[in-house]
Amino acid sequence: MIRAQDLTKVYQMGDNEVRALDGASFTINKGEMIAIMGPSGSGKSTLMSIIGCLDVPSSGKYSLDDVSVETLDESKLAEVRGRKIGFVFQQFNLLARTSALENVMLPLTYAGYSGREREDRARKALERVGLGDRTHHAPNELSGGQQQRVAIARAIVNEPNILLADEPTGALDSKTGVEIMDLFQRLHQENGQTVILVTHDSYVARHTERIIKISDGKIVSDEVNLDPIKAGTPRVER
Ligand SMILES: Nc1ncnc2c1ncn2[C@@H]1O[C@H](COP(=O)(O)OP(=O)(O)O)[C@@H](O)[C@H]1O
Ligand SMILES: [Mg+2]
Repeated sequence: MIRAQDLTKVYQMGDNEVRALDGASFTINKGEMIAIMGPSGSGKSTLMSIIGCLDVPSSGKYSLDDVSVETLDESKLAEVRGRKIGFVFQQFNLLARTSALENVMLPLTYAGYSGREREDRARKALERVGLGDRTHHAPNELSGGQQQRVAIARAIVNEPNILLADEPTGALDSKTGVEIMDLFQRLHQENGQTVILVTHDSYVARHTERIIKISDGKIVSDEVNLDPIKAGTPRVER
């Protein structure tokens, strides 16, 4: 469903060119759960932006469900994004002083649902992430892990095919991080949700079924993880 062929992304910085992506090729099938790993500055976020149709490559081909993004203008790109992709970020990106419920309802604003329907869907999404009893709490009344759950509820409320998470456990302690991985695993198993997450933590990455490593904008390895860690098991370095 995701097909990337020889992607490059070049940023012009004054007289300097930064090659954030340098010939990356891969395919990701519907329903996979994948980690993208690499050092800081290796191009992970740039790659996520392209996968998520927030940006387009400088060269190469990228297609989502057999639609080439090169053929789409900005408004079509935004439509694909809204319909097919849910985003989760390291810093949660929730609206402050706004209840969990309203934060989760936000992506439904322009989807043509009635107020009642939006509220029902948002409530269900919060229940799915285990926060059915926190709908009226604002972000500053929630722990970091709970805030990330709200952000995940917001990402899934539109029922997107693909969930993209950029360092979703990066701002959390390791125990809470594992709980978030447990949630991603559940969404993946229960709904066959495609989950693609970026992490620099190899322990987090080993909760997924495939690990793609990137360095200097190039994919340096792409391996199946035959024995993903089940979230909730005690941390053992291996
Ligand atoms: N908007 C931008 N303008 C210029 N350079 C950028 C921009 N975004 C990223 N870069 C550069 O591209 C490279 C890859 O960045 P990024 O994809 O954010 O890496 P990562 O997420 O792996 O840390 C870095 O050298 C970064 O400085
Ligand atoms: Mg990044």
